[in-house]
Amino acid sequence: MRKSTVRFWAFLAVLCFAIEAVASRCAEVPPGPKWLQTAVFYQVYPQSYFDSNGDGIGDLPGITAKLDYIQSVGCNAIWTNPVYESPFGDAGYDVADFYKVAPRYGTNEDLKNLCAEAHKRGMHVCLDLVAGHTSVFNQWFQRSALDRPNRYSNWYIWTPARENAPGSQPFPGDHNRSDRYLPNFFPFQPALNYGFAQPDPKKSWQLPTTDPACIDVREELKKIMKFWLDLGADGFRVDMAFSLIRNDPDHKAISALWHNYRAWIDQEYPEAVLISEWSDPAAAIPAGFHIDFFLAFGEPAYGLLLGPNSRPDGDARKPHAFFERAGGGDIKAFIQNYLKHYTVTKSRGYISIPTANHDTPRPTWGRDEQEVRTIFAMLLTMPGVPFIYYGDEIGMHYLPQTPNREGGLLDDIQRCGSRTPMQWSKRKNAGFSTASPEELYLPIDPSESRPDAASQEKDPASMLNFTRALLRLRRDHPALANAADFQPLYAEEKSYPFVYLRQADGERIIVSINPTAHSCAIALNEAANPTPLLVRGAVFRNGRLEMDPVSFGIFAVER
Ligand code: NOJ
Ligand code: CA
Repeated sequence: MRKSTVRFWAFLAVLCFAIEAVASRCAEVPPGPKWLQTAVFYQVYPQSYFDSNGDGIGDLPGITAKLDYIQSVGCNAIWTNPVYESPFGDAGYDVADFYKVAPRYGTNEDLKNLCAEAHKRGMHVCLDLVAGHTSVFNQWFQRSALDRPNRYSNWYIWTPARENAPGSQPFPGDHNRSDRYLPNFFPFQPALNYGFAQPDPKKSWQLPTTDPACIDVREELKKIMKFWLDLGADGFRVDMAFSLIRNDPDHKAISALWHNYRAWIDQEYPEAVLISEWSDPAAAIPAGFHIDFFLAFGEPAYGLLLGPNSRPDGDARKPHAFFERAGGGDIKAFIQNYLKHYTVTKSRGYISIPTANHDTPRPTWGRDEQEVRTIFAMLLTMPGVPFIYYGDEIGMHYLPQTPNREGGLLDDIQRCGSRTPMQWSKRKNAGFSTASPEELYLPIDPSESRPDAASQEKDPASMLNFTRALLRLRRDHPALANAADFQPLYAEEKSYPFVYLRQADGERIIVSINPTAHSCAIALNEAANPTPLLVRGAVFRNGRLEMDPVSFGIFAVER
């Protein structure tokens, strides 16, 4: 071989080695807008955030007025629950007009202004997209129910009355078709008809996804997205994203549908994001979502960490959760499940484990603040995109006695208990509204010791400042970035602590969590020269990591 050829091959080998070495130190970053790599979301339940005009209900100008606060927490994106015209039988998840902001929240112009003000601050705004159903008061449904055929006749799933299909509902009133419609969630939320992947040939009302009516519905959803993206929105959290197509056992048809929307988004709005309420990241992310939530349904994930939605009994939950003083939780099962999803999605999108949401109890339920801090220490150092539910950053309480308003009960959970007004200060109505207390749409936490943002602002040791410190750490350390690598180091059933490694760009960080009332210790050889970054009750001694009861540790290590 000629000398120059040898030199060429040697050069190529060194180059490949160098590329591989760099690649193995850099995290694989999923495709999609760059802002997702550092995104931290804050979920706003609009009726309870801030009432700007004193009518007792939160509104869009109220959210705009609080953007600086949200940014000061360390969040740079928000997701608001539905803000569209609605009879509010289910907190706006029963949409009457998809193109109009509900007057109680303001106007379309107010929403445009919220987006513009967020953008000025480098923040993003995602709206809720209720893709699978409407209100019975939506004009599409009202027309669909007429007994004379029209453009909307097959926009919903109508079943012959004589068949009495399970779950089907009669349409009340005169001059309507005698068929019964299928709801998607509550009976007053008729399912939009995206078709059946495998229609039953004996049931002619089961239309294929290629039916012109189903295609019309699919195009209308695109029109809705376009409308709000053009107004300034940065994307959508898609309600019940898995639910649109029926008889689709292998998710093929629903995946194809979202693939299509994602291809269109990538092409027309490459800075926009799609976030799914699916709770099956291995299905949702390959289908086209940038982010999927791990929640308390579907896979046993969120429940294994924070507990089922059932009431805690003293220190213990049934079945046990990882985050409880009594111990007995199974982090191993959680991690096995998490890894199943993480390994197949990490190069394509993000998994999010939210602190809570408008459907779940808050993490404070049956826990003291120190326990909640261990939850935050984990959730805000995990990979994926963090979501903080409004008020969790100050440790607001779940109030199961809250009277029911909009959306009723879900199993044994009173959802309004997590939807009470944000507590801003010690002033009237906790600074939420200038209305008289009887005029408030939802009542304020009546407890005298209720936490509030203004008091916590002044206290360096507060939950609010703790949340800020965690998010600062996440921002400042590449190893804690959304796409940085994650590896469990110790995750055993009924054994503590839970320890994991995050790494990127040559930086390595070990996180250790002990939520129980007992101290614990493990041998940990991976940790050379540990430097504490944010620690409570955790120490490395002679190659062992020792942890106090209800403690956590975040350490930079050399290898
Ligand atoms: C999921 C939403 O999070 C929940 O609040 C709502 O009731 C149902 N979807 C129906 O839209
Ligand atoms: Ca208001």
